[in-house]
Amino acid sequence: MRPDTAYHDEMGRQFAVQATGSAYHAYTDRPAMLRMAGDVSGLRVLDLGCGAGHLAAELVQRGAAQVVGVEGSEALLRVARERLGEGAVLHHHDLEEPLAYLADRSFDLAVMALVYHHIDARRELLSEIRRVLRPGGTLLVSTTHPTSDWAYFGGSYFADERVELPFGDGFALNFWRMTLEQFLGELLGSGFVLEELAEPRATEEARLVDPRRYDKTHNQPLFLSVRLRRP
Ligand SMILES: C[S@@+](CC[C@H](N)C(=O)[O-])C[C@H]1O[C@@H](n2cnc3c(N)ncnc32)[C@H](O)[C@@H]1O
Repeated sequence: MRPDTAYHDEMGRQFAVQATGSAYHAYTDRPAMLRMAGDVSGLRVLDLGCGAGHLAAELVQRGAAQVVGVEGSEALLRVARERLGEGAVLHHHDLEEPLAYLADRSFDLAVMALVYHHIDARRELLSEIRRVLRPGGTLLVSTTHPTSDWAYFGGSYFADERVELPFGDGFALNFWRMTLEQFLGELLGSGFVLEELAEPRATEEARLVDPRRYDKTHNQPLFLSVRLRRP
């Protein structure tokens, strides 16, 4: 049976707080995703695993015509609803299941920030994303960097296994550790075309907020972000 990897209840509440100002989320992954998104004004955007709605809120603020968020944790959806108000449509949904309620070719941009590695049914999910994106649409995916996982968990770089990373106050993030070859292979094998790959480092603001993590991201790649085109 697949583990339920959504950040429920107290774990979700702790993530929501952390995602607001943490060096890794607010100042490393999110700015990289927003830079890769480029000009989103007038676009119909799907945010998969939208969490507490931080990225969605930025997309709304930058003029996206429509933002739809999908998230498996009710606790996080509550925070996202408070943050976004009427600015976005939010769905409670397990990303292991098809996005049956979303129409074919109905989005210009799909974003999936630090969610992909949680999912078992990744090929099925990619096929659904391909279905709901219009031809020429963009998919942005970020994940934990394979070498960072290797450095932390040890063993073989080529290990293909679920791992648990301690998180917050006694919780654990459960996700797939995968090689670069596997990560990119799945995306390209699902028919997407790679346009850009980035190994983001924390922005200058993080120097003041959290100098230790700022330095860490400048010495070791912790995240990986890609921009892909749906042909
Ligand atoms: C690291 S957080 C990222 C949240 C958000 N994308 C952001 O960047 O702030 C991972 C998110 O994926 C969600 N998630 C994990 N597994 C999921 C699943 N099977 N279905 C839906 N959401 C899931 C978690 O609840 C959490 O909100």
